[in-house]
Amino acid sequence: MLRVEKISHTFKSGGELTPVLHDINFQVKQGEMVALLGSSGSGKSTMLNLMAGLMKPTEGHIYIADQDIVKMSENKLAVFRRKNIGFIFQAYELIASLTVRENVELPLVFQSVSASARKKQSLALLEAVGIPDKAEQFPSQLSGGQQQRVSIARSLITEPSIIFADEPTGNLDTKTEDEIINILVDLNKNMKTTFIIVTHEHEVAQHMQRIFTLRDGYMVTEKEDPRSEN
Ligand SMILES: Nc1ncnc2c1ncn2[C@@H]1O[C@H](COP(=O)(O)OP(=O)(O)OP(=O)(O)O)[C@@H](O)[C@H]1O
Ligand SMILES: [Mg+2]
Repeated sequence: MLRVEKISHTFKSGGELTPVLHDINFQVKQGEMVALLGSSGSGKSTMLNLMAGLMKPTEGHIYIADQDIVKMSENKLAVFRRKNIGFIFQAYELIASLTVRENVELPLVFQSVSASARKKQSLALLEAVGIPDKAEQFPSQLSGGQQQRVSIARSLITEPSIIFADEPTGNLDTKTEDEIINILVDLNKNMKTTFIIVTHEHEVAQHMQRIFTLRDGYMVTEKEDPRSEN
């Protein structure tokens, strides 16, 4: 499903070079849910943004569904991302002037899906994330946990084969964090969507099937199925 091969990345700004990732290699199977764990500055977001095709690495290859996204032209990549990749942000990134339902439907507006079909799908997903009653409200009327539920529903509406989440519970209290992680684990089980979750919290990572740990830009451990140990 996802294959990362010899990825290295160095940021260049104003003649200054910042090496951030060094020879990263790993694979994730279809339907797996994995954590990318590491402390602040270890390179997690950089790795995630590369895998989601939001930027190009200095070196290496990233295959999603057997296609090397590093080699893709920007136009082809834009189409590929819209079809295959979902993203969940730490700060939700909802559009304040749109209702909850309109936010969830937004990715479909750019595809030729009828308004009635969009509504049906978005309401089903809002049900799946536990807030069917919030559909006609605006993001500002929702709690942080509820806003993240909306953003999860939005990431799923195009039925992507893989979803990347960057610290999806980073802005939430512990109780809400548990609820959001449980929703993601259930969605992974029920919809077979592949999830890559960036976190700096061991507690969050323990809920995933596998854990990849980044330390100063090096991948240092690859823990196999922590759930099977309990
Ligand atoms: N655009 C950029 N230009 C230069 N350096 C950058 C840029 N983006 C990130 N970096 C550097 O790359 C390193 C890794 O950053 P990254 O955002 O990937 O870390 P992270 O693991 O996601 O951290 P956090 O947990 O704080 O979000 C840091 O040292 C950071 O300063
Ligand atoms: Mg980060």
